[in-house]
Amino acid sequence: MAILKIITKEDDILRKHSRPVEEITPRILRLLDDMKDTLHKAQGAGLAAVQVGVLRRVVLVETEPGELIELINPEIVSASEERQQEMEGCLSIPDEWGITDRPMTVTVRAMNRKGEWFETTGSGLKARAFCHELDHLDGILYTDKAIRMLDDEEVEEED
Ligand code: NI
Repeated sequence: MAILKIITKEDDILRKHSRPVEEITPRILRLLDDMKDTLHKAQGAGLAAVQVGVLRRVVLVETEPGELIELINPEIVSASEERQQEMEGCLSIPDEWGITDRPMTVTVRAMNRKGEWFETTGSGLKARAFCHELDHLDGILYTDKAIRMLDDEEVEEED
């Protein structure tokens, strides 16, 4: 296992579309393990493979410590009409925060590391993380969608 370098927003790779995983190979398993180490080191709530330079549809979400969700080829299958407007950040955009408008609850369908399809539903922060990480797979950053970014004073208050 290894800690990988997290790519930041200046790099155009973050704007590329990631390709589906066709087969769960040892290389994909290694990627999942390395992404887990990288996410934990960075103390983030989620990480997409593109953020470590791999254009594959692989995402990790961990909004509760110890509850790591590995998502391979994830898709949002349903989203609530109820919305939330809360704070969001990104490991690829350090020291910035913004308010986004996202569904309050989303259900995601994805494959696990055994190649089995499953569904998982999250609300609040977990729903934001699902939406945010899945956007990364299509080259979208939350700053594209933010209603507004927090100014320095507001960021200090959050620290
Ligand atoms: Ni991000």
